[in-house]
Amino acid sequence: MGTLLATGDLHVEHADNRRFVEALAPGSEDDWLIVCGDVADSPERVEWALGLLAARFARVIWVPGNHELLCPREEPAAPRGEARYLQLVEICRRLGVLTPEDPYPVWEGDGGPALVAPLFLLYDYSFGRRIAPTKKEALRLAHAAGVVCVDEFLLRPDPHSNREEWCAARVQEAEARLEERPAEMPTVLVNHWPLHEGPTQILRHPEFAQWCGTTLTADWHQRFGAAAVVYGHLHIPVTSWYDGVRFEEVSLGYPREWSARGWRRPGLRAILPEAGQVAA
Ligand SMILES: [Fe+2]
Ligand SMILES: [Fe+2]
Repeated sequence: MGTLLATGDLHVEHADNRRFVEALAPGSEDDWLIVCGDVADSPERVEWALGLLAARFARVIWVPGNHELLCPREEPAAPRGEARYLQLVEICRRLGVLTPEDPYPVWEGDGGPALVAPLFLLYDYSFGRRIAPTKKEALRLAHAAGVVCVDEFLLRPDPHSNREEWCAARVQEAEARLEERPAEMPTVLVNHWPLHEGPTQILRHPEFAQWCGTTLTADWHQRFGAAAVVYGHLHIPVTSWYDGVRFEEVSLGYPREWSARGWRRPGLRAILPEAGQVAA
C-alpha cells in the first residue's frame, strides 16, 4: 500500500546533494514523495531533480521554496514573482508533478485516507515580532546582526507591491480551498515555511524568523484537521508536536549541514503511516 514520504531543501546546486537525489528510491512502487521546496535556484536544475524523482515515485508533490523564486541579477529579463512561480508550475505539469495549483490529491495508502494539500503561502515578517514590534525594527536588527535572508535582494513579488501582499493573497486563496475540503478527512498540510511559529524558536539566529512564515496560519493544523504538517526552510530536520499535531521538518539542507549531523543520516521522512526515518 506504500508510504507517503517527504524530503525538502535538496539545493541541487551542490554536487553532494545531486548525488543524494540520484540515490533516492522508493521502497515500494506505491510510494509517493513530497518535495517541500528549495529544490534549486534555477528552473533547469529544478526540472532535472523533479524529473528524476517523478520517474521513480508513483506520485511526486512539489511546493515552491524561496530559492526557486529567486531572480538572479544577471538575468534581468527572467520572469519575476508570480510569473516565475507559474513557469515552475508549467515545468511540473510537463513532468506530471503536482503543485499547489492542482486539486489536492487523496493519499489512499497505509495511514490514509488523507487529503494532501500542497501550499504556497510565503511569509509576511510577522514572525519577527519576537525580536521587535515592527517590521522596520526587526529588519534593522537583522541587518545589524548580519542575518539577512537573500530574499530581500532577489525574491521579487511582482505583480504584488511586496511579499506581504503576495503572502496575504496566497493565504486567502488556500484558506478558501481548505474550507471546502471533504469533511472528516484528515489532511497533510505541506508548505515550505512552517505554518506555526513554534519551530522558529530554535533558530540559532532569531532575526531569521521574520522570513519563515506568517502568524495567519497559526491555527491551521487544528482548524483543518491535520494528521501531519510538513515543512522545510529551517534546515533543522526534526519532528515536533503542537496541540497534539505532528510537524515534520524534512529538509536535507546544504552538504556542510547534513554531513555534520552524525546523529542522523539524511533520508526520506515517512509522513503516513507515521514511522521512523527511511534510510536513503
Ligand atoms: Fe533551504
Ligand atoms: Fe527556504
